[in-house]
Amino acid sequence: MSNSKPVKRFIVIDKTVHKLYGSKVSQYFDERGVIYKILPLTTTEENKSMELVTKILEEIHHLGIDRRSEPIIALGGGVCLDVVGLAASLYRRRTPYIRVPTTLLSYVDASVGAKTGVNFAGGKNKLGSYKVLPALLHGEAVNIDMSFMVYVAQQKGLLTKDEKDRIIQCMLGLELPVWHQECSLALVQKSLRERLKHSAGSVRMPLPTGLGRAGKTISSVCLPSSI
Ligand SMILES: NC(=O)c1ccc[n+]([C@@H]2O[C@H](COP(=O)([O-])OP(=O)(O)OC[C@H]3O[C@@H](n4cnc5c(N)ncnc54)[C@H](O)[C@@H]3O)[C@@H](O)[C@H]2O)c1
Repeated sequence: MSNSKPVKRFIVIDKTVHKLYGSKVSQYFDERGVIYKILPLTTTEENKSMELVTKILEEIHHLGIDRRSEPIIALGGGVCLDVVGLAASLYRRRTPYIRVPTTLLSYVDASVGAKTGVNFAGGKNKLGSYKVLPALLHGEAVNIDMSFMVYVAQQKGLLTKDEKDRIIQCMLGLELPVWHQECSLALVQKSLRERLKHSAGSVRMPLPTGLGRAGKTISSVCLPSSI
């Protein structure tokens, strides 16, 4: 029996994007048994304001999310990502958020920085925040690596889903990070490719094989195509 709690997600989506793809987004979460709330908002330059930030914060508060393990998801253009980013930086002093850009500009922006903002007193992006990417403490980075290995082990059939969930919940219970927003699929693939170059064509990964049992190293892995 799994003792993991259900996954909960709060998604803010641009209204136009919702009209076009809302049903697919709902289907994605339904199929995975996620408890979720989708908040479609008109996110245009004209209403890129603190009122929109407050509206988002009220809804987050209403749903109640765990800031350590339940990142907010922003799905839309640059306005949507900027507004949700600011709300996330304010909620409980900082809550992680995931940016899903749907315009070319926001795609480029999302890949380079973590600026957030709203228009204020007639000025563009007058209120906002700029997140300097925190260097992870060594122990935190190690834990993220261990958590990643747990996922790979499950994919490889070395761990059951329940075992994986128990390990991840244990890490979260110890307030250790199991993921970092900069840790994208592209970054993982790039790092693995680099490792491959420097280790004579084979990648070795320390994979757990059960609760409290570690030690299986695999020397050749397919680069993961999804996380
Ligand atoms: N955070 C940063 O680093 C950064 C950098 C530069 C600009 N920006 C901000 O980005 C904003 C501009 O972003 P933008 O150009 O994405 O505009 P936008 O967010 O205003 O979106 C433009 C329009 O496209 C619609 N839209 C979004 N995705 C769509 C899709 N897939 N299909 C159809 N319609 C879609 C939206 O409903 C909206 O009406 C500005 O407010 C700017 O300040 C942020």
